[in-house]
Amino acid sequence: MKMKDNAKFISFNKEAYEGLNNYLLNQVDSIKNTFILVDNNTYKYCIPILFSRIDSFKESNIININPGEEEKNIYTCIHVCKTLEKLKANRKSLIINLGGGVITDIGGFIASIFKRGIRFVNIPTTLLGMVDASIGYKTGVNLDSIKNEIGSFHIPEFLIIDTHFLKTLPKKEIYSGIAEMLKHGLIADKNFWEDLNHIKNITNLDIIQWNRFIHQSILIKQKIVDQDPKENGLRKILNFGHTIGHALESYFMNKNKKITHGVAVVMGMVCESWISYKRNGLSIDDYTKIKSILTTLYPMQKIIYDLSGLEIKKILIIMEHDKKNEKNKIQFSLLKKIGKCSYNCQVPYDLIKESFFK
Ligand SMILES: NC(=O)c1ccc[n+]([C@@H]2O[C@H](COP(=O)([O-])OP(=O)(O)OC[C@H]3O[C@@H](n4cnc5c(N)ncnc54)[C@H](O)[C@@H]3O)[C@@H](O)[C@H]2O)c1
Ligand SMILES: [Zn+2]
Repeated sequence: MKMKDNAKFISFNKEAYEGLNNYLLNQVDSIKNTFILVDNNTYKYCIPILFSRIDSFKESNIININPGEEEKNIYTCIHVCKTLEKLKANRKSLIINLGGGVITDIGGFIASIFKRGIRFVNIPTTLLGMVDASIGYKTGVNLDSIKNEIGSFHIPEFLIIDTHFLKTLPKKEIYSGIAEMLKHGLIADKNFWEDLNHIKNITNLDIIQWNRFIHQSILIKQKIVDQDPKENGLRKILNFGHTIGHALESYFMNKNKKITHGVAVVMGMVCESWISYKRNGLSIDDYTKIKSILTTLYPMQKIIYDLSGLEIKKILIIMEHDKKNEKNKIQFSLLKKIGKCSYNCQVPYDLIKESFFK
């Protein structure tokens, strides 16, 4: 499973949209057979930019859904499929996912099942979408509070990275994306991690030259995915911080206390770094550096210390449903050192609990 030749991993430049425009002219029977999936926010902020890039999109169909992780479920997919049906979509239709990870996950999944699979294009509009969610062919939705329980692998025709979209993205969403970039550094590239650490000294995020960071982050993820597209082994290292992080994200979503995916992953990475120190040879020095950077950049992550023993028990129960589990054992990806990660690690319950209080 490889990225298609015509798919492009490039920051915004004329060429990227020119490629898509040519594709629309030559490979799509009519622009009216193109369906742009957006949420209320990307409809407001990103559609005007997309229309200014490719004028003919004005004639396509727009399908607008509510924003947010709560919408990432099978009922939304059914609603979108019914809308596609009503608008007479067929096997030659093309879905354009214009949005964050929620939109690319939902839209990619629908493209993989609607009429047994149609083509799609990802145009991520969040930092997290650009560096992570739209890379690696995973699509899917949540089943109640179990994250990404229903899904598929489906390859987009095109991937366009246009950093112009980041201008309207709320600051907390920018930090959410930075969390995944930090993870890429921690698991596979120490220099990149150190480079990113400088962000802690920057108060005005607008001055950051995103292209370089995004490009590097995509390269790290893509290199891992190319070696193990279906996550039989190595790709599991991308789950660092996510065993605990996903459980926290589900737990807080149920409690109506919204946290971004990135903050959940940061909390997960702090806990799992402690476990890495206790079980996987991570030095105390590396652990201390990781904790210091993550807690400085994400003061919000401290809400984890307010969790009661009973709440942590509930979070552990959520972890037992994690689809990464094998033989009924919760699986972790743990750091060996900054820039190197192991996978398929099992951890005693007491140590998981202990990591919440460190
Ligand atoms: N498939 C994968 O491999 C993969 C990898 C990582 C994460 N994910 C998934 O991605 C999702 C998180 O994605 P996300 O963080 O992008 O969240 P999101 O899609 O919910 O977007 C965050 C918020 O930003 C708004 N928004 C998006 N673009 C905007 C813009 N340019 N200007 C203003 N507002 C904008 C959205 O409407 C939303 O309110 C999670 O569901 C996670 O599971 C998937
Ligand atoms: Zn993630």
